[in-house]
Amino acid sequence: MAPLNALDRHLALVGFMGAGKSTLGPVVADRLGRRFVSLDTVVEERSGMSISELFATRGEPAFRLVEEEVAAEVLAQAEPAVIELGGGAVTSEATRRRLSERAFSVLLDVGVDEAWRRVEGTGRPLASDRELFWALHAERDVYYAEVADGRVRDGDGVVLAAAGVHVQRGAIDLLDSLVPGNGRIELVSDRHVAGIYGVQAQIAIGERLLAAHEVPQGEPAKTGAVLEQLWRDLRGDRSGTIVALGGGTTTDVAGFAAATYLRGVPWVPVPTTLVGQVDAAIGGKTAIDVPAGKNLVGSFHWPARVVVDPGLLETLAERDLRNGLAEVVKTGLLAGEPLWELPVPEQVRRSAAFKASLCLRDPLDRGPRNQLNLGHTFAHALEAAAGFDLPHGQAVALGLLAALRLSGQETRVVEELLAPEPVRVDRDAAWLALTRDKKASGGTPRLVLLDGPGQPRIGVELPVADVRAALDGLIVDV
Ligand SMILES: NC(=O)c1ccc[n+]([C@@H]2O[C@H](COP(=O)([O-])OP(=O)(O)OC[C@H]3O[C@@H](n4cnc5c(N)ncnc54)[C@H](O)[C@@H]3O)[C@@H](O)[C@H]2O)c1
Ligand SMILES: [Zn+2]
Repeated sequence: MAPLNALDRHLALVGFMGAGKSTLGPVVADRLGRRFVSLDTVVEERSGMSISELFATRGEPAFRLVEEEVAAEVLAQAEPAVIELGGGAVTSEATRRRLSERAFSVLLDVGVDEAWRRVEGTGRPLASDRELFWALHAERDVYYAEVADGRVRDGDGVVLAAAGVHVQRGAIDLLDSLVPGNGRIELVSDRHVAGIYGVQAQIAIGERLLAAHEVPQGEPAKTGAVLEQLWRDLRGDRSGTIVALGGGTTTDVAGFAAATYLRGVPWVPVPTTLVGQVDAAIGGKTAIDVPAGKNLVGSFHWPARVVVDPGLLETLAERDLRNGLAEVVKTGLLAGEPLWELPVPEQVRRSAAFKASLCLRDPLDRGPRNQLNLGHTFAHALEAAAGFDLPHGQAVALGLLAALRLSGQETRVVEELLAPEPVRVDRDAAWLALTRDKKASGGTPRLVLLDGPGQPRIGVELPVADVRAALDGLIVDV
């Protein structure tokens, strides 16, 4: 089967000249924390002359031979890199085979007109004649189609494809083709979501549908009892896939069921809330809650694909949109960009790409991915103290407020957009939960703070009294 993501393999950028590979490549590599390798640059270093000179003095066939050799070497390297291939590198059958074995290949496709506009008059060897340029594009397109595991137009597109995240309005109707493989599918959703989208999803899945299961609505879905019920109800074999259609609570419990059932089967979240589309469905974290705290039992189980259909948000209640906005604000603060000002579908795409890049870079949350926890140490403590009867987004809004205050940063965006209201919970219970947080070390909470927009600092240990005061500032007395 074709690779589903670039998690443990090279990410190869292919496409015609003028597609923007050499501009985007280093940017994407930086976002993923990987080395960037341009095959053309290696060829030039190796031959001691520019590609144009190489073409002029030794001819295209000689160039292609060196290019193929260099591609083989670079693709054989173990450490996953971001590799830019020259426009014609895919004409080599050996290179195409090596790509399929060693890389996840993304086709950067800007259209032939745009490509011509960009390269016309630049003196590139194969870009001197308009007719020839068009003919060459048509000829190469066949090869691109053969190697491409994803087809994208920009940097966010590359990152999303590399993480296996498919963002498309109307995607819910394409589930049969978007759920990888051809095994049977079991659909999991909560009653409410099943009532709105269940039939549509089942029709889209078609003959691959094996069974549909329901979990409770909201946080009560994330319990051991619901998980056990799923273990009982699931009946697929290991060729099957679990599709989790719903908000973050559904994807968390169904994802954990997929991680454990038959020691792990593939799963595809189809997030239907803003929280789900920008956060919960991305990055492979699955979990249930236990009395000691939220998300304390779970596993990392990277989805076979994430299907994000922003159109599904149209039926979402205002309150749930606002919950999602809290995660968008968090992402915008971390990215240093006012993502909340964008139209919702763009918020989704940009935020999902931001999270996807951090998760690809640090799938097991041992370093940079930690920044996504901005505000969450406080949020989770409040949720636990509220007996998980506090919407995650509201808790995150409060948590962001505390994190920004402790960082000495402006809190206006959070206040104006999210209007966080202090909650009525037991102060000691919240404090106890905070010191038991997964990220605490020996009872000392480790926080994510912001030195400024786009400048997170992870693992910060502050005086306990300051942290407690910040938490207290989010609570009104019972
Ligand atoms: N795994 C992760 O990385 C991760 C990240 C962030 C949040 N989460 C988890 O996500 C959970 C919160 O998710 P949530 O906010 O999506 O809550 P949710 O799943 O409870 O959904 C909120 C409500 O919206 C309804 N709903 C869902 N989609 C709808 C639609 N399209 N139209 C109308 N109604 C719809 C649901 O029935 C529910 O009542 C928390 O448990 C949190 O811990 C997990
Ligand atoms: Zn969150």
